[in-house]
Amino acid sequence: MCGIIGYSGHRPAVPVVMEGLGRLEYRGYDSAGVAYVQRGQLIVLRAEGKLSNLARKLEETPSLTATSGMGHTRWATHGLPVERNAHPHQDQQGSVALVHNGIIENYQELREELEAQGVAFSSETDTEVLAQLLGRCLAETGSLDKALSMALGRVDGSYAVCVVSRDHPGVLYAARKSSPLVMGVGVGENFLASDIPAFLPYTRDVVFLEDGEMARIDANSWQVLDVATLAPVTKEIKHITWDVQAAQKGGYKHFMLKEIFEQPRVITDCLAGRVDRRTGRANLSELDGLAPPERLTILACGTSYHAGLWGMYLLESWARIPTRVEIASEYRYRDPIVGPGDTVLAISQSGETADTLAGMRLARERGATVIGLCNVVGSTVSRESDRVVYTQAGPEMSVASTKAMCSQLTLLTLLALHWGQQKGVLPAEATAHCVKTMESLPGILEAELPRMRSRAGELSRAYSDATSFLYLGRGQCFPLALEGALKLKEISYIHAEGYASGEMKHGPIALIDPKFPTFALAPRDELFPKVKSNLEEVRARGGKVIALTRAGSGLQADHEWECPEVWGPLSTFLLLPALQLFAYEMADYLGKDVDQPRNLAKSVTVE
Ligand code: M6R
Repeated sequence: MCGIIGYSGHRPAVPVVMEGLGRLEYRGYDSAGVAYVQRGQLIVLRAEGKLSNLARKLEETPSLTATSGMGHTRWATHGLPVERNAHPHQDQQGSVALVHNGIIENYQELREELEAQGVAFSSETDTEVLAQLLGRCLAETGSLDKALSMALGRVDGSYAVCVVSRDHPGVLYAARKSSPLVMGVGVGENFLASDIPAFLPYTRDVVFLEDGEMARIDANSWQVLDVATLAPVTKEIKHITWDVQAAQKGGYKHFMLKEIFEQPRVITDCLAGRVDRRTGRANLSELDGLAPPERLTILACGTSYHAGLWGMYLLESWARIPTRVEIASEYRYRDPIVGPGDTVLAISQSGETADTLAGMRLARERGATVIGLCNVVGSTVSRESDRVVYTQAGPEMSVASTKAMCSQLTLLTLLALHWGQQKGVLPAEATAHCVKTMESLPGILEAELPRMRSRAGELSRAYSDATSFLYLGRGQCFPLALEGALKLKEISYIHAEGYASGEMKHGPIALIDPKFPTFALAPRDELFPKVKSNLEEVRARGGKVIALTRAGSGLQADHEWECPEVWGPLSTFLLLPALQLFAYEMADYLGKDVDQPRNLAKSVTVE
């Protein structure tokens, strides 16, 4: 997830672009850059790190008089977060510059093709491939709209791009496919951006671009075209009434809600370029040359730990890898038996969690191979791991982790698939269904989320008097029960315990009474009959039950919450957002500070 902005108008462009980037920094912040045309020259300025570094560089650049330009704030997906990988990227001739948000899946093959034609690359990014390709197409067609249409016709993947060219200062082009792009229509000035806050101080009149559309702006006019045919498309201008803060949340009341609703996109991004739809093979090039682990230890904290526990089930059943999952703050203070031949998978959204880092350092010192699974590019976990697999969820702003867990589960599924296929032990059923099901999930989830939210709203109100909840699940639903309880605790401050359903009669059943509700995860899997009897035991003791289950499951519950199911363990991707939304609705109804709950920090960098 990155932020892009383009401007053409009557003001000096660079300050407008920088101000817009400041409002897009929530979308990524590992490097930034701007491009504009001045005295017939295409100027590109970039800096590693926060936007303030780029601002310092610009202070040393005299006479920024250009009245059109564009900028980018980056959340790295390909290549380290260093200046050479920062956007904008240019073609070899310096005739065009391009900023991009998304992932070009076939960049490797395009890069090889261009290198064979003598193009020299200066970065490791997928975006530079598109910039170079665009430069070639421009030389061939002589017109920027045709060139952009031609170049985009060659790429697979997702993109929102904005382009400036040396020979047409004042004109900007942009296009989108599966990444956000919106146009701001002003008086004597027009804007392009990933998100409305970027230009909100200047105009509230916007045009939302759809997939397959291209926009052309200059100071006094705008036009939308079909990317493939270049035929004009009629668009409607909408007037926005949000303030900047609301706009950063995309109109959602809280970042947490926005991030829950981003999960379909997160799954799509995590899969991009990592699965072969035709053969069903997982392709984790980050692990090239690394044999499947003999034994695997997963280290993590909090929600990442729950993701790891969930992953253990697949890594054992699909890839037949003996796996144990450790709470990092326990592991680091033991004298764990770990050494050469062991593989440690450190899972961390932030990549900065002190205990996870200490645990992985200990394992590494003793000779284990460490693979980092993290979201923040360039974080300490990513730097100190032997290999790193990025989850590509984009910045997570809410303290309560939601979309990051979804991305971790997606990657853990791919890891089990990858290693199971490498070892030749993957069950035939998994090969046949996994990739197909994963690819259908974003669409199903997108359609379900609004319904889920309204059911979560109803149920949270019905149970808002409860002071304690028991969450129950079996098999892969056990880690989900832990996660459901954690989410409720951390944002609504209601006590909740996650338990393995089968363990209930070994103690917690003593707590059951009419005031102690149970939230049960009860998908119709092979463990369903067992879960059903556990719930009968709860009800027989006067306990109230909310059951997240499939329609017509025949469960005796006080409140049935119908949740659609997909193939096998992947129903998790539909159960998880229901748990998140229940906690969210409860906290919001009780008036809690959803995004910044008391006593918590987003990244726990202390022991
Ligand atoms: O950044 P990490 O994934 O290493 O963070 C681990 C935990 O601190 C984190 O998941 C925490 O439990 C969240 N607040 C849960 O929502």
